[in-house]
Amino acid sequence: MKYLIVANWKCNPKSKKLAEKLFNIFSKNEISKKVEAVICPPFIYLYNFSLISSPFKIGAQNCFYKDFGPYTGEISSLMLKSFNCKYVIIGHSERRINFKESDDIINKKLKSVIESGITPIFCVGESLKEKKEGKTKSVIGKQIRDGLKGLNPKKTVIAYEPVWAIGKNNPCKPSDAKEILSFILKTAKTKIIYGGSVNKKNAKEYLNMGFNGLLIGGASLKEEEIIPIFNI
Ligand code: PGA
Repeated sequence: MKYLIVANWKCNPKSKKLAEKLFNIFSKNEISKKVEAVICPPFIYLYNFSLISSPFKIGAQNCFYKDFGPYTGEISSLMLKSFNCKYVIIGHSERRINFKESDDIINKKLKSVIESGITPIFCVGESLKEKKEGKTKSVIGKQIRDGLKGLNPKKTVIAYEPVWAIGKNNPCKPSDAKEILSFILKTAKTKIIYGGSVNKKNAKEYLNMGFNGLLIGGASLKEEEIIPIFNI
């Protein structure tokens, strides 16, 4: 099975010009045959990227759960499918926190993504407070049970992203991540990837311990970081 390496560009870079420049630079590099490489840019750059010949699959960072209709400002999974998107990140902690996405909304989004034939990358993870209170497994267990209600886990990729490890250069200790990996596998048997302060130095550790891939934020915007990871 290939490693799934997903670049989550979040709300970056600032302009079309910069986005195309970055994508073109990345596209000139070779990608390991052991890796399925996915770039998830902001929605607005998806169309241009889908026209550029590259070794990458294209993904989105979010979508709405209705296919079409009077939902101002939303983009549906069906629309993403028509742009050849292969993956959609759902339930990222930045959406749970900043946009108040509940497990119920995430469940609807996962359902719609699966029905449209795209693979969702379903993010779960505990906050620092929950970790300190020893609630990591109960929080993740609930996120998975509620998020996947009525759905086949095998149709999803689960990303374990401890909230306290995201964007802070504070990665989860590999031994702790391994414990959570085994826990998630008992709850939902599917591909599981790790995210949270991944860089070219620590990427391999997570893969060696059994994660099927990585979800990478900050480092995914830097050629010198992400290209070595795509060639792991
Ligand atoms: P990070 O972000 O790699 O910058 O920690 C990961 C993510 O939010 O998906």
